[in-house]
Amino acid sequence: MTTSTAAPDIRVDDLLDEGGSDSMAENVRAGLAAEPKQLPPWCLYDERGSALFDRITELPEYYPTRCERAILNRYAPEIVASTGAEELLELGSGVASKTRALLYAMAGAGTLRRYVPFDVDATVVERSAEELTTLYPGLAVHGVVGDFERHIEDLPEPAGRRLVAFLGGTIGNLGPPERAEMLARLRSLLRPDDRLLLGADLVKDPSVIVAAYDDSRGMTRTFTANALRVLNRELGADFELDAFEPFARWDEAHQRVELGLLARSAQRVRFAGLDGLEVAFAAGEKLLTEISSKFTRARLEHELVEAGFRLERLLSDEDDLFSVSVAVPEEAR
Ligand code: AVJ
Repeated sequence: MTTSTAAPDIRVDDLLDEGGSDSMAENVRAGLAAEPKQLPPWCLYDERGSALFDRITELPEYYPTRCERAILNRYAPEIVASTGAEELLELGSGVASKTRALLYAMAGAGTLRRYVPFDVDATVVERSAEELTTLYPGLAVHGVVGDFERHIEDLPEPAGRRLVAFLGGTIGNLGPPERAEMLARLRSLLRPDDRLLLGADLVKDPSVIVAAYDDSRGMTRTFTANALRVLNRELGADFELDAFEPFARWDEAHQRVELGLLARSAQRVRFAGLDGLEVAFAAGEKLLTEISSKFTRARLEHELVEAGFRLERLLSDEDDLFSVSVAVPEEAR
């Protein structure tokens, strides 16, 4: 682990350099052997990918960020008052712009002590640490650069009553079994007075969903195609960027968007960083980069209860497009 201390109140632990790159490469190898072929999320969120995603969040068609921000702006004071939260632990923090409402409400209530951003992209953890300590002098920030699947156990001990925020709809990037595991891991982070805030996108008219993921400016296509650049750089692959076509489609049966790349012709790709692995793509074959699942309220409640939570409140925006659940850990019985 590398720990850097940029300013007195900032500490950032990088857990990814601990054998991280080996298992990240192995995740790619496993995904390429699967049917259909798929890539792990880290391939999307390098520095360029995070910047592209930020631009997606500003598109008029991309409602999730806007709606979630509206929900948090409206309800943050109530959430903070009812929990007395002193610490905000945010998973997949990104640039933390949506979190500001929570920190602002905690500062206003006089309870704000520490912010713990956790993300795979070191640059966003460092940037939000610096911005937020400037905004809230005296705020302690303990950032962690890591991977949800491996490093949740290594997060710092709580500094007080905690709000654990898993926002943005990131839970929807996981399929059902991985979601159950993730929610159970989140459950294990909470003590009785802590709360989970879970942002999840709601099921709605598919045309609204498709517009958000197949935007008219092609920003999402650029974001998806960036995964190939990441593989070329990080794993010495020789993808020809123009040989793959990005796509986004609504999968009605699974109630989710599927995003990925289609091979324009039959081809082979070599990965120097995976011991020279050669991967064959048939013409039209798909390489899945992510799924984005949409939820009904009943589904959300069911999954939270299964993971050992009680759903205290299910908040949504005025158009009912997006949701933020406030969940309480149930005593293990
Ligand atoms: C950051 C995972 C929530 O699924 O809406 C947006 C990612 N990908 N457009 C989402 C994403 C393409 C986004 N999450």
